[in-house]
Amino acid sequence: MKLWGGRFRSGPSEVFERFSRSLDFDRRLIDADIRGSQAFARALERAGILSGPEREKIVSAFDAISTDAASPSFFDGATDEDVHTLVIRKLKERAGAVADKIHTGRSRNEQVSLDTRLWLREECDRMRSGLGAVMRVLVRLAEKYPDAVIPGYTHLRRAQAVLWPHYLLAYFEMFERDCERFNAAKLNADASPLGSGALAGSGFDLDREAIAEDLGFRSITRNSMDVAGDRDFALDFLYACTLTMIHLSRLAEDWILYSSEEFGWLELGDGVTSGSSLMPQKKNPDSLELIRGKSGRVTGCLTSLLVTMKGLPMTYNRDMQEDKVPLFEAADQTAGSLEMARVVIESVKLDRARPAAAAAESWVVATDLAEALARRGTPFHQAHQIVGRFVLESVQNNKKPADWTAEEMRQFAPEFTSEMVPLLDPKKGIESREIPGGTGPESVRAALAQAREVVDRLPK
Ligand code: ARG
Repeated sequence: MKLWGGRFRSGPSEVFERFSRSLDFDRRLIDADIRGSQAFARALERAGILSGPEREKIVSAFDAISTDAASPSFFDGATDEDVHTLVIRKLKERAGAVADKIHTGRSRNEQVSLDTRLWLREECDRMRSGLGAVMRVLVRLAEKYPDAVIPGYTHLRRAQAVLWPHYLLAYFEMFERDCERFNAAKLNADASPLGSGALAGSGFDLDREAIAEDLGFRSITRNSMDVAGDRDFALDFLYACTLTMIHLSRLAEDWILYSSEEFGWLELGDGVTSGSSLMPQKKNPDSLELIRGKSGRVTGCLTSLLVTMKGLPMTYNRDMQEDKVPLFEAADQTAGSLEMARVVIESVKLDRARPAAAAAESWVVATDLAEALARRGTPFHQAHQIVGRFVLESVQNNKKPADWTAEEMRQFAPEFTSEMVPLLDPKKGIESREIPGGTGPESVRAALAQAREVVDRLPK
């Protein structure tokens, strides 16, 4: 069955039919398509196009189709152009001639927009629940080692000491922003396009507000041409997926490093690592590498649709059918990566001694010393110079911070006073950073308590 054909002398070539068919992937929208079509049948009744019994017949036929569609064999042998065509064919098979009225004043251009919006609203919730689960296990891991000290890095060089929970809560922030982005993506999709027609608005007196209410939309779209040519809502969703994946990828990269022999801080669970077919000693972080790898794939999905949309003339063009594969792909890869990340985070053990030693053996205390000098009146630029020379001297003589005595320090620079000596321990410097958002123990405790409240408020 086709939804067009009268104007043609011959049918489409087999090659074109195969090439243009989207049923293989857009079948995923079948629930949304049926729900939308049921609401549209009710709208047609209100507009006087369908009688009450006709509407009833159509709606209950759709219910039956919906049940049938749950069985895997439902799509067997189907060669319809797309899911919208298949659904109408099925309706005709079940409800007979009345099915010919369902498409009155409706276009597939608005239908595909509607279906995608309905699908996407639910996907945004799925992503938020995956993010929530990751946030929950991050908080748990932070609470497990509340006062562990690690070196924080810039340029992958040891920079300043921070508390382990402070580091983890940085990712918590990213994931919380991701949740908000999915929320925003959902809101952006949450407008009903039905009544827009192909591009010019429906020629029938449809109550658009009532359709929107029927389908639980917050509002109706405002311009029919915009609707036909718009995939902004899909791009918003893809961007939210991409940024989530970028955050996961950076966490993955950190932990691939931190669990390496070179760092040795983290032990990943056996359940999320794999061995080598050749080298018996290997325990490889494949789960994290795959998350990092999939971030490239999802970024590709965003890029793919951006490039597809670029330069399309108003309004609908068939190019836009190419939105679905990247959308579904990004949703599945992101949901899968969130799930994998949750399991990795649950599996991980921190060897507190290793990062603490890495901090103590390096010069992460240099800034603390310079700031202490500045607090005692040495202008910061000079304090920076003094400590810089102090570090150079230490490096040349292979001295760690703990190797210095108060007396030696004073000899090196009279500005060093005895109350600065404890700052050779990275923990002390951490204590000087009691500022909102900083790594001071009190600030971190408060931030962690707040994060705990956030995750406890999330739906389970
Ligand atoms: N399968 C099409 C898509 O996903 C539906 C819209 C078809 N509209 C058209 N004018 N050919 O974009």
